[in-house]
Amino acid sequence: MDSSLGHNFFSSSVEQTIDIAKEFAQSLQPNDVVIIQGGLGVGKTHFTKGLAAYFKIKQEQVQSPTYAVVHEYVGQITLYHFDLYRLKSPSELQEIGFEEYLYKEGICIIEWPELALSFVSDDWWVVDIERSNNGPESRAIHVRKKQTYVPG
Ligand SMILES: Nc1ncnc2c1ncn2[C@@H]1O[C@H](COP(=O)(O)OP(=O)(O)OP(=O)(O)O)[C@@H](O)[C@H]1O
Ligand SMILES: [Mg+2]
Repeated sequence: MDSSLGHNFFSSSVEQTIDIAKEFAQSLQPNDVVIIQGGLGVGKTHFTKGLAAYFKIKQEQVQSPTYAVVHEYVGQITLYHFDLYRLKSPSELQEIGFEEYLYKEGICIIEWPELALSFVSDDWWVVDIERSNNGPESRAIHVRKKQTYVPG
């Protein structure tokens, strides 16, 4: 995958979204951060299930961690799955030790990342999922690697 330009995928089913996530997961390295953006119920957690499957984590373990804020899944690599939808301020992120997760060897996956963006200073992956108008299950998925701009 050419990470600098990003990559467009098209999904027409849950299964395809999971397969796309598995393909993308091949590009991931320990310590990476993946932000998943997209409206309510668009498929962010199902995409995460695909990432988990690639790392030999049972998909059933992967649930929206709305109440816990973060779930930890152990497979070939550890995934830290965040859902920040209910968070009200960045101080709540400090309370759960969010920054420490970013330095762990595992991979952080963040749904509803807005409140966390100021903490994520290194490179990160951005996955955008949108509904598209080819039917109720169709989704456009765009994946890119974002890098912090350091003025020369
Ligand atoms: N192509 C598709 N890819 C993913 N999910 C799909 C697709 N088509 C239909 N769906 C359905 O959309 C829903 C997606 O749910 P999911 O929990 O993954 O979304 P989400 O973006 O994580 O939601 P939330 O905003 O609540 O976190 C599921 O009910 C799933 O069956
Ligand atoms: Mg979700």
